[in-house]
Amino acid sequence: MARTPKIAPLLQTDRLRLRPFRASDLKAMHALYGDAENLRYWGMDPSGSVENTRKMMRWHIAAAPRQYTIWAVEEKKSKRIVGMINYFRRDMRERRVEVGWLILPAMQGKGYMTEAGRALLRYLIDTLKVHRVEALIRPENKPSAALAKRLGFRLEGGPLRDRWLVGGQWHDVMIYGLIAGEER
Ligand SMILES: CC(C)(COP(=O)(O)OP(=O)(O)OC[C@H]1O[C@@H](n2cnc3c(N)ncnc32)[C@H](O)[C@@H]1OP(=O)(O)O)[C@@H](O)C(=O)NCCC(=O)NCCS
Repeated sequence: MARTPKIAPLLQTDRLRLRPFRASDLKAMHALYGDAENLRYWGMDPSGSVENTRKMMRWHIAAAPRQYTIWAVEEKKSKRIVGMINYFRRDMRERRVEVGWLILPAMQGKGYMTEAGRALLRYLIDTLKVHRVEALIRPENKPSAALAKRLGFRLEGGPLRDRWLVGGQWHDVMIYGLIAGEER
């Protein structure tokens, strides 16, 4: 079994640096997690305050990489955080993880998440020896479904009924899966 680094390792692409979040990134993290409109198809409630984001951030940074790791997606040319990407619900025995992605509205449509997603998949498959990657996506979330397909995920099933509870409401999701070797 591959050894898991204690903190998110640095992953580089042409235009991006994927790196751990630091306590000093609070404002950038809140810009991502506090934007209710951008998070309208997200699996959790948006953060209602910077104080709440601070608590979330402590959790994100302290989480055990055997199950969870988040990266800040930084644009190389501006050195600004433009998004985040993570893996979670990692199952070591079955070598499976779920992934999530989020980018600031102004930074969408540039292919940044395709680039970040490819780097994450390389890391998961080559370094952590993950065999299966899953993405759960609301049927309404066309940009996320398009991104998953671009990366090589296949739509495997759904709707999984009432899979997410967000803002007190149940939501159905579709399940996308990628097996090692199918990444594009
Ligand atoms: C899901 C999400 C990350 C997708 O972002 P995105 O910017 O569409 O995805 P990418 O970064 O891969 O960019 C792809 C777009 O950039 C365009 N593009 C421009 N240059 C490109 C390049 N060099 N390479 C690839 N695509 C490029 C593509 O044509 C595509 O645009 P289109 O959708 O108009 O065809 C974004 O919509 C988001 O953050 N949503 C809110 C959070 C969320 O719902 N997350 C998912 C929960 S399941």
